[in-house]
Amino acid sequence: MRGKMFRSIFVSLSRASWAQHTITHWGFARRAASRFIAGETIADAIQAVRRLNAAGINASLDHLGENVVNPGDVDSATLEIISILEEIDRAGIQSNVSIKLSQIGLMMDEQLSQQNLEKILEKAKSLGIFVRVDMEGSNTTERTIQAVRQAFLDGYENVGVVIQSYLRRSEKDVANLISRPVRIRLVKGAYQEPASIAFPNKADVDANYDRLCRMMLEGALAAGAPRLSPDSRTPPLAAIATHDLRRINYARQQIDKLGLPRDAVEFQMIYGIHRELQTELAAAGYPMRVYVPYGTQWYPYFMRRLGERPANIWFFLSNYFKH
Ligand code: FDA
Repeated sequence: MRGKMFRSIFVSLSRASWAQHTITHWGFARRAASRFIAGETIADAIQAVRRLNAAGINASLDHLGENVVNPGDVDSATLEIISILEEIDRAGIQSNVSIKLSQIGLMMDEQLSQQNLEKILEKAKSLGIFVRVDMEGSNTTERTIQAVRQAFLDGYENVGVVIQSYLRRSEKDVANLISRPVRIRLVKGAYQEPASIAFPNKADVDANYDRLCRMMLEGALAAGAPRLSPDSRTPPLAAIATHDLRRINYARQQIDKLGLPRDAVEFQMIYGIHRELQTELAAAGYPMRVYVPYGTQWYPYFMRRLGERPANIWFFLSNYFKH
């Protein structure tokens, strides 16, 4: 219960412009955020990816930004994503990209965001790069799933979606998506949702995570267990994105039980969280991908990361005392 309240404070703060204005101007907040953010420029981010690649870990680059409502900013966000794809190709790094539809026009005009999504996917397809569409708050869930499904039907198999185990609807969504099959990243969910649509208790979110994980692994098996691509840019069908050791161990047991090859599933974690576990899983032969965010729009992302773990508030404040 306390954890839920803690998260709700930070999710509210992530949307408050007064707080964004104040906090982004504090030097110590920027320093604290740098634990979770690879830097402000694409060059910083590529350097971070090279370090991960050297440790046997793949990446997904995310140019931070969300809830964009200005047409000029939507255009530049779309162009920035296209230039990341070119940079990945030029640098020869083992990375794909993650994007948010609210970054490329969803909050203004659904058709515009679909066009921008397919523009990005066209470029990505020509370079052999996969694009993951992150999942945002529940006001965008249906539109996001529909957009990905449409792009998939339009011939872009290089697109994938994210499903949140805290949502009650997710079991149906997983069943639907694996039947096509569309690539899924499974997460618990980082926003604040009412009990009418989301499980309020952590134990139920976790149990649903295992249930959906099992469905995704069975789906992967039924689809012939496609593997991580040789250039590591296209993930297998099932991506298990969590830092929760119980969930990871459950997935590992099920992978063995079903007789899936290890590289027919991948684990994913966030830049700056449980680095030792990332290396451990990679060393055990599981594809491991780290989500690498960069850019100047780090504020809402950072607030969500703080809200995930009460102990992070001490980590945040300790940066205040470091000059
Ligand atoms: P849980 O919250 O139970 O944490 C398990 C353990 O992990 C904790 O005990 C702690 O040790 C560690 N941990 C977790 N979060 C931490 C933090 N912030 N700081 C330090 N330690 C932490 N969500 C979403 O709604 N849409 C999305 O598109 C994505 N995308 C995404 C991609 C990837 C690769 C990951 C790993 C996660 C996401 N998420 C997301 C976020 C996700 O919904 C969830 O909020 C976080 O992963 C935290 O939940 P865990 O599964 O780690 O479990």
